Amino acid sequence: MTALLADERLRRALDVAAPQPVGTVDAVVGLSVDVAGLRGAVGDLLVIDGTTTAEVVAVTQRTLRCMPLGPLHGLRTGMPVRSTGRPLTAPTGPSLLGRVLDGLGRPVDGKGPLVDARREPVSGQAPSALGRARVDQPLALGVRALDTLVTAGRGQRLGLFAGSGVGKSSLLSMVARGTEAQVSVIALVGERGREVREFLEDDLGPEGLARSVVVVATSDEPPLVRLRAAFVATRIAESFRAEGADVVLMMDSLTRVAMAQREIGLSVGEPPATRGYPPSTFSLLAQLLERAGTDERGSVTGIYTVLVDGDDHNEPIADAARSILDGHVVLTRDLAVAGHFPSIDVLGSVSRVASRVTGKDQQALATRLRQVLAARRRAQDLIDVGAYAAGSNPLVDAAVAHADAIDAFLRQAMDEAAPAGDSWQRLGALVQQMGAR
Ligand SMILES: Nc1ncnc2c1ncn2[C@@H]1O[C@H](COP(=O)(O)OP(=O)(O)O)[C@@H](O)[C@H]1O
Ligand SMILES: [Mg+2]
Repeated sequence: MTALLADERLRRALDVAAPQPVGTVDAVVGLSVDVAGLRGAVGDLLVIDGTTTAEVVAVTQRTLRCMPLGPLHGLRTGMPVRSTGRPLTAPTGPSLLGRVLDGLGRPVDGKGPLVDARREPVSGQAPSALGRARVDQPLALGVRALDTLVTAGRGQRLGLFAGSGVGKSSLLSMVARGTEAQVSVIALVGERGREVREFLEDDLGPEGLARSVVVVATSDEPPLVRLRAAFVATRIAESFRAEGADVVLMMDSLTRVAMAQREIGLSVGEPPATRGYPPSTFSLLAQLLERAGTDERGSVTGIYTVLVDGDDHNEPIADAARSILDGHVVLTRDLAVAGHFPSIDVLGSVSRVASRVTGKDQQALATRLRQVLAARRRAQDLIDVGAYAAGSNPLVDAAVAHADAIDAFLRQAMDEAAPAGDSWQRLGALVQQMGAR
């Protein structure tokens, strides 16, 4: 024991006494800083002039190209640079519940330091293709329209496609409060500070925060901090999964994470490819989204918001996300404007795992409501001008006759709890009311 202690003390003393190599700032151009005279690996953290932390993003024979995790203002050539020899780490552990962290995992909620938090490198490992359990268990999100008509599975990755101001934040907060998952990890990336406050205070509230960990990087932060926030949040979600928990990881928004990567890629000299996005953006998305999923112990179910403004279906990030994700939920402005919340376009939304995580009876109920909604949509023009003749289509007749009940089923107030069991029962009653199959 004493020998061990002495060893440890000796090692620490040697660490402290060892000469620390010092490099210098060689150039500061655009968003990046070149450092000469230091060796290091991509991902290492450096400290410039004792204050500004930067991360190595590219390495050449002579220089380390870095991006700062703080403001560039005031940096000069010749400033001393030291390497920490370590990559960025994220805090992990149960003491994170109820806390709000910045993009580098430091608390920003004024509730003091994190107690008992371990720190682990943010670059976690995605569950291996074979170690990954299949997504075959449902995960109740506490939102009626989703649990019954777009049923999510544990470990699924869902996209939430929406424009701005149509109710993404409020829907995410409903999930944080209502899901049966024990923990929600919420990454807010690239929002304005005011929006973050509103989300924390009005949408999430103390009750939602108590079972969540929130990671925030606002739009005014350096791009690398915005990008790292996504990884810090993912790492935190993984750490709860490793303890056997079911976790919901919500990222608002994936598009802004991709935009941060675009800024970084372009500024270190990558060529712009699709609509200005360098190729690294797409590999980054794949890497990030692969890390949600189930492993032998727990699950991380990912909900990633994707900004779609107008009807731009060729938007490259939406395209790329759609190809990686296993389901998408579409929020529409039409519904939001009409005051219909959550503004989920049920017919435009699909969960690719729904048939694996629901029973035959449940599927029949969901299909029945979808059929009625689809018939109503097709006949909507006729109904609007009063040209629909009652009796010509039983599905449309059911939709018209029970419009209020259908609406009441799909709508849900922000503070209305909806356990999945109740939602299925209510759907059963609604389908029965609309007439037997
Ligand atoms: N469930 C809801 N009930 C009532 N109003 C809602 C609901 N969800 C959203 N809203 C309204 O929509 C506005 C925008 O919602 P928000 O979630 O902030 O959108 P986004 O995050 O997509 O920009 C809110 O200010 C609120 O007035
Ligand atoms: Mg929002």
